[in-house]
Amino acid sequence: MIERIKETADFLKEKTGFKPLAGIILGSGLGGLVKSIEVKHSFDYSDIPNFPVSTVEGHDGKLIFGTLEGKNIVAMQGRFHYYEGYSMQQVVFPVRVLKMLGITHLFLSNAAGGLNPSFNVGNLMIIRDHINMFPDNPLRGKNLDDLGTRFPEMGETYNKGLIEKAKKIAEKNSINYQSGVYIGSSGPTLETPAEYRMFRILGADATGMSTVPEVIAARHAGLICFGISVITNMAVFDEGEEGTSHDEVQNAAGEAEPKMTLIFRELIKSL
Ligand code: HPA
Repeated sequence: MIERIKETADFLKEKTGFKPLAGIILGSGLGGLVKSIEVKHSFDYSDIPNFPVSTVEGHDGKLIFGTLEGKNIVAMQGRFHYYEGYSMQQVVFPVRVLKMLGITHLFLSNAAGGLNPSFNVGNLMIIRDHINMFPDNPLRGKNLDDLGTRFPEMGETYNKGLIEKAKKIAEKNSINYQSGVYIGSSGPTLETPAEYRMFRILGADATGMSTVPEVIAARHAGLICFGISVITNMAVFDEGEEGTSHDEVQNAAGEAEPKMTLIFRELIKSL
């Protein structure tokens, strides 16, 4: 595995001669940040050796090297989800490659369902912590000693300094925000009302199908992490009650995206 990671990183280093400071993973419908990047190199995932091959979704992802607010960054437009059938090792492979390219920070976004009743569709939630409800962990199996330790400590998984900075940025720009705990599970089904209730009782504020595996791999490799969830729908806790309509979901993501982009840009500027 480590050889494959190195091989891919070497390919990208050779093609780009670029050393990124930060990695950015953009969630579904949250790719608008790409417009702010001064693009230097862009690769379809299908052209990158050893990258997982996109089979299910049909829409190809892109790995974009460039500058954002004057900083060297590498952005993943589109990610690999566990529900698509990838193994955990495949889901986190790009994160490990980015680490090998020299990033020190990883910024992640996702679309999520709101569990905290005080949230609204369209809210941004700064991720304070997470709960791993996936049936697997990307670090299971032989430890990659070159990347990190066997039993990574998870006491400050989402960097407190970046969280505080993000809150200040939001306040300065009159952006309304929430903060809370993200619970990640495999999907692809959305939750039943009973499952939403269970997740709320477990202490989560938002739920989704990504982020947790990538952050686990990132923390294993010593990367500093920051994440934002865009609340695209609210949990339906009562059987028979109607959920958020598809139009509402899309509008919510579209409205919240520029605010999330601004927070990411300002944070990266401050690195
Ligand atoms: N549940 C799980 N994943 C999601 C949801 C949800 O309600 N909304 C967006 N991603």
